[in-house]
Amino acid sequence: MTLEEALALDAADPLAPCRDRFVQGEGLIYLDGNSLGQLPRATIEATGELVRVAWGEQLIRSWNEGWIDAPARVGAMIAPLIGAEADEVIVADSTSVNLYKLIVAALRQAQQRDPARKVVVSEAGNFPTDLHIAEGAVAAVAGAELRVVERGALADALGADTALLLLTHVHYKTAERFDMAGWTKAAQDAGALVCWDLSHSAGAVGVDLNAAGADLAVGCGYKYLNGGPGAPAFLYVAKRWQDLLHNPLSGWMGHAEPFGFADGYAAAAGMKRWLTGTPSVLGLGALESGLALWDGIDMAQVTAKSAALWDIFHAAGTAAGLECVTPQDPVKRGSHISFRHAHAYEIVQALIARGVIGDFRDPDILRFGLTPLTLSHADIWSAGQMLIEIVESGEYRRPEFAVRNAVT
Ligand SMILES: Cc1ncc(COP(=O)(O)O)c(C=O)c1O
Repeated sequence: MTLEEALALDAADPLAPCRDRFVQGEGLIYLDGNSLGQLPRATIEATGELVRVAWGEQLIRSWNEGWIDAPARVGAMIAPLIGAEADEVIVADSTSVNLYKLIVAALRQAQQRDPARKVVVSEAGNFPTDLHIAEGAVAAVAGAELRVVERGALADALGADTALLLLTHVHYKTAERFDMAGWTKAAQDAGALVCWDLSHSAGAVGVDLNAAGADLAVGCGYKYLNGGPGAPAFLYVAKRWQDLLHNPLSGWMGHAEPFGFADGYAAAAGMKRWLTGTPSVLGLGALESGLALWDGIDMAQVTAKSAALWDIFHAAGTAAGLECVTPQDPVKRGSHISFRHAHAYEIVQALIARGVIGDFRDPDILRFGLTPLTLSHADIWSAGQMLIEIVESGEYRRPEFAVRNAVT
């Protein structure tokens, strides 16, 4: 691909106008929107107003003017991006905390149905928090166990003792994507529930939880949804489970009547029971304005552009001699691309020094997020050229690029 060809793709790109809706750093090509999404311009104004007026002037009155309903309202904005009904999604806490709530709830429900169902099955190499939280969740439920196996052994790990299959839909390192419908069916055929971590899927690829018949899901607000650093996360519970699953972190915001101030807990109906404490209003405000950008966006166009960006960067990485660890088939991957190289860390640092921001995942992965709303084809072409130059010239060998940062 030439620069002229990339520019021609930009000229014909229906998503090109979206780029200007985000703050774009001077001389920066940001390929990390799969880790921290870019700042939407509208968020500056919206959060400023939230702080100045809703908090500064309206103070506590704002709870009755939109704050108290924000978790459900913002959840409803995420629903179309993940194939859910508006009343199947709520925004709360972090992905880690939501995982804990759903895993414990699923384990307790499964044991009520059949005491022999006590195992959570997950994949070795899943995102660490999913495994760490699952470890903590099984420790909180008498008799429960965690079974972590390689991807190839997952099918055999499901059986009469399985309560829950916990999978990350798009792998954080390799971008490999599970067949959601197929694995949901496999879990359910074994009598288990399935919980999908959509952190690298929501806003990255088309997701249809209800078409797949999924039971539970969680995901991050700060990646492709552009909710800002540490944005609150979402959780999904299919309608058929909503009365049957209970939040183990039973706090007053999940109570049927929080302002009844009763001593005893009575779970709210629907998704509200998944709230625990007071919602993070500033975080919700930023996420809400990030999500507003998705209104009217055609996910088919996002998917097509992601594939086009991927092809350009894949060609560059391959020309630079890097080994691509992401599947070639677009339906088998998310919207990031990862390469393996013995000097992955140094190459990423050399790219950052030139204004191309990707990230490094231990031990040897270079990872680049290809976010169709914020990037042009020409951006990806230029980043690819820099990657080739850095590798071919050995520029990455400069000693300063070997200095390890705390966050990689
Ligand atoms: C698959 C996956 N799950 C969960 C998380 C993070 O969860 P939390 O927001 O609770 O830190 C990440 C973060 O990168 C992730 O990639």
